[in-house]
Amino acid sequence: MDAQRLDTILSRYECDPWDLIPVLQDIQDNYSYLPKDELNEVARRLNVPLTQIFSVATFFKMFSLLPKGRHQVKVCLGTTCHLRGGARLVESLSNRLGVEPGYTTKDMEFSLETVGCLGSCAQAPVMMVDDKYFGRTSVDKVPKILKLYK
Ligand code: FES
Repeated sequence: MDAQRLDTILSRYECDPWDLIPVLQDIQDNYSYLPKDELNEVARRLNVPLTQIFSVATFFKMFSLLPKGRHQVKVCLGTTCHLRGGARLVESLSNRLGVEPGYTTKDMEFSLETVGCLGSCAQAPVMMVDDKYFGRTSVDKVPKILKLYK
């Protein structure tokens, strides 16, 4: 555990049980996931049962209990994107990266996940890498998109 890093995060809070979600968001932003040792310490310092922390961490999609890669690949499987080939994009990305959605490549370069509507249905099917949207995309465009991040 990186105690100093966690102390810096916790120093921004009263360490009241009500601070749990903001503290978890801060840890997620800082580490790109919620490390188990850090969660144990948060449980102790905020006086919140670890089971409650895991309930929160698994309920909200913004939290991850697994380390994330350097780049976050998100494929929309909202209704419009699904109808226009979103599932084929997921399959193609999964084959190229060698991971199922929800997982990270061994080299920690890419995490792949599926999401609900990204709010760009007119551009369906849509995928994102980090903060960049790729609309009207297709299986043929996947290698070129991934190459931008290698
Ligand atoms: S359904 Fe994919 S952006 Fe809306």
